[in-house]
Amino acid sequence: MKAKKLHPVFAAEVAGVDAAREPSPETVEFIERAMAEHAVVVLPGQNHVTDEQHAEFSRFFGPRETPAGVASGHRTKKYRLGRYMFDASNLDVDGSLLPADHPRRRMRAGDALWHTDSSFNPMPTKWSMLRAVAVPPEGGATEFADCRAAYDDLDEDTRNRIENLAAEHSLWTSRRRAGFEDVTEERVEGLPPVIHPLVRTIPRSGRKAFYVGAHAGRVYGLPPGEGEVLLRRLTEFATQPKYVYTHRWTVGDIVIWDNRAVLHRAGKFEGTRRHRRDMRRTTVDEFQPSWARLG
Ligand code: OGA
Ligand code: MN
Repeated sequence: MKAKKLHPVFAAEVAGVDAAREPSPETVEFIERAMAEHAVVVLPGQNHVTDEQHAEFSRFFGPRETPAGVASGHRTKKYRLGRYMFDASNLDVDGSLLPADHPRRRMRAGDALWHTDSSFNPMPTKWSMLRAVAVPPEGGATEFADCRAAYDDLDEDTRNRIENLAAEHSLWTSRRRAGFEDVTEERVEGLPPVIHPLVRTIPRSGRKAFYVGAHAGRVYGLPPGEGEVLLRRLTEFATQPKYVYTHRWTVGDIVIWDNRAVLHRAGKFEGTRRHRRDMRRTTVDEFQPSWARLG
């Protein structure tokens, strides 16, 4: 196993891992270390990996999340993928291309805003592991921004100002921002907002990063307008080209990213209206709540 840097400040490609097999303790350690350093790790050549193997491999890095719809009750009974797989594709349950105005497609439109996965969940989300099963001939890249490097480069006044603030995160905040209007009371009750500190120290690397993204709404301790401006400024700062790595997908890539360290967004959608883009994701938490059932 070797890590090859993909960008001056973060992101690396690691060859020699087979995600279809149970990882050895050395492999787990290698990936943990690579992730602590690079925050985005690409595992190429995983074409043969099944959903079950992908989910099993993920289990070695933390307790697995299930898609938000399970909790909020808006997930329809029919679902294309298994229990631990988030469907980031442009496909219907039967695998056909979704029309542009389909509600599921409109829900996914929020992925094009800079965000961090599952920050609307109460437990700190650790990593996402996204696998490319089918990619369009053009477009459909994913962009990542390093909020650790951006945090390090903040001026001291801003760093002091944000140190002890906390923000409210809700899936519905980002869906509204992306033009999804069907946010019912029932949906909000099913998945109510949660609070996370604005600045996090990431375990293992000990590096600090600000935790923002499209799910983040009001900032506690600041008037609403000021909070919104602060969140936007931080996001703009972190997404300057010098902190951004763009991943152009090859079928069989698994890309792992640290949701505590980076923001990401779906890139331009050329091609994805006419071509299938089949992306499947697992997500693991930093730790498990004491009241959770082991699974
Ligand atoms: C995700 C996501 C973006 C993309 O799967 O969490 O934001 O480019 N995906 O598919
Ligand atoms: Mn995402």
